[in-house]
Amino acid sequence: MNIAIIGSGYVGLVTGACLSEFGHQVTCMDKDAGKISMLQEGRIPIYEPGLEALVAKNVKGGRLHFTTELSIAMADAQAVFIAVGTPSQRRGNGYADLSYIYDAAREIAGFIKKYTVVIDKSTVPVGTGRQVERIIKETSPDADFDVVSNPEFLREGAAINDFMRPDRVVLGTESERAVDVLKEIYNPLYLNSTPFVVTGIETAELIKYAANAFLAMKISFINEMASLCESVGADVISLAKAVGLDGRIGSKFLHPGPGYGGSCFPKDTLALLRIAQEHGSSLRLVEATVEVNSAQKGKMIKKIRKALGGSEVGKTIGVLGVTFKPETDDVRDAPALTILPALHEKGAKLQVHDPQGMEEAARIFPEYTYVGDAYAACAGADAVILLTEWNQYRALDLERIRDTMKTPLFIDLRNVYDPGKMRESGFVYVGVGRGLS
Ligand code: UDX
Repeated sequence: MNIAIIGSGYVGLVTGACLSEFGHQVTCMDKDAGKISMLQEGRIPIYEPGLEALVAKNVKGGRLHFTTELSIAMADAQAVFIAVGTPSQRRGNGYADLSYIYDAAREIAGFIKKYTVVIDKSTVPVGTGRQVERIIKETSPDADFDVVSNPEFLREGAAINDFMRPDRVVLGTESERAVDVLKEIYNPLYLNSTPFVVTGIETAELIKYAANAFLAMKISFINEMASLCESVGADVISLAKAVGLDGRIGSKFLHPGPGYGGSCFPKDTLALLRIAQEHGSSLRLVEATVEVNSAQKGKMIKKIRKALGGSEVGKTIGVLGVTFKPETDDVRDAPALTILPALHEKGAKLQVHDPQGMEEAARIFPEYTYVGDAYAACAGADAVILLTEWNQYRALDLERIRDTMKTPLFIDLRNVYDPGKMRESGFVYVGVGRGLS
């Protein structure tokens, strides 16, 4: 099938690469000429494991193409995915900015020549699909088309696997004809018995927000439990394990840490609260989830200050990790963006390392020192903070680190290391929710 993807950012690119891997003819379009020429040269603008190889393979196979021209992408396309960005509006009120979606709908409308399925992949507030439908009808009254909401559930760092082996595919539309087209697009998944949930367009739009809010809520829940563990002398790791073994709860997303970040949870929880507010409904659990997450970062700052003896002044801190999670170069809404400046403002000197995120961190915080590896970050430091659980930080030569630090204080905000073993190795160890603090 001929497929057009509008927007070649994270979601668009992963979708395009994976659909071409399914055997379809895919053209990814983006207005950013720099990005398109990079892609045409075989370079990938983002870091996502496996993506470069998948793109290269399908470009070579003649199934994946890139263009800045909508007319080229739309020529012969039976399905058009809208995968443009929906950033939070600049006013910071939690509303998603839908102007890129609506612009895309308007432009697509002019190129619809035969029956076309317009698929919304971007995460959008309830009602957006109907608006897209209205805009296309207004712009091209004779266009033969259907709109489908088909939310993505891609985790950064695992996006290709999530696309190829999803827990479910959600299709929001009333049109059986459109469902048939989507089933053809996702044929390999359909044959694999992946559950397909076919529902109304509004429900599909809400499913994405509900799933993300629930996961965020699980994280905020375990972060609060971690604080309680520190007050009563309990261990959150054993607690999470035992609680998670209840099949009704599940063990995933119960890892305490410095708070969730990234491009989805912070933005989507706020957008969901706005949606509820606009419809006169309240989502108190989601409100609490957002508040707890913001408070968690403050708690981490206090935890670090306390471990440093009450003041950051004149202290050198080694920082391991700035991205919001491992296997990505994304620092959007990362806890590091709140925690590091708070320490720096109070007089700490920061020696920062991250396997992929340093370029972006250095752009935001040029005043910190960036170093080539974890050991250089720890050298001469009064404390080291592990902020992102990259694999290369899981098997550090601890003796080497201890011997080069000024004081062997290890603040492990991802609970990567065992407190007992760290203490035996001569560290003062501080984790999250690991007994009395
Ligand atoms: C998330 C959803 O998982 C995905 O389905 C959706 O489409 C987009 O948002 P992503 O933001 O890439 O994906 O990362 P995810 O792995 O979900 O982690 C989000 C944040 O939560 C990270 O900051 C991570 O460190 C944090 N987290 C996750 C925890 O603190 N504890 C956990 O147990 C799990």
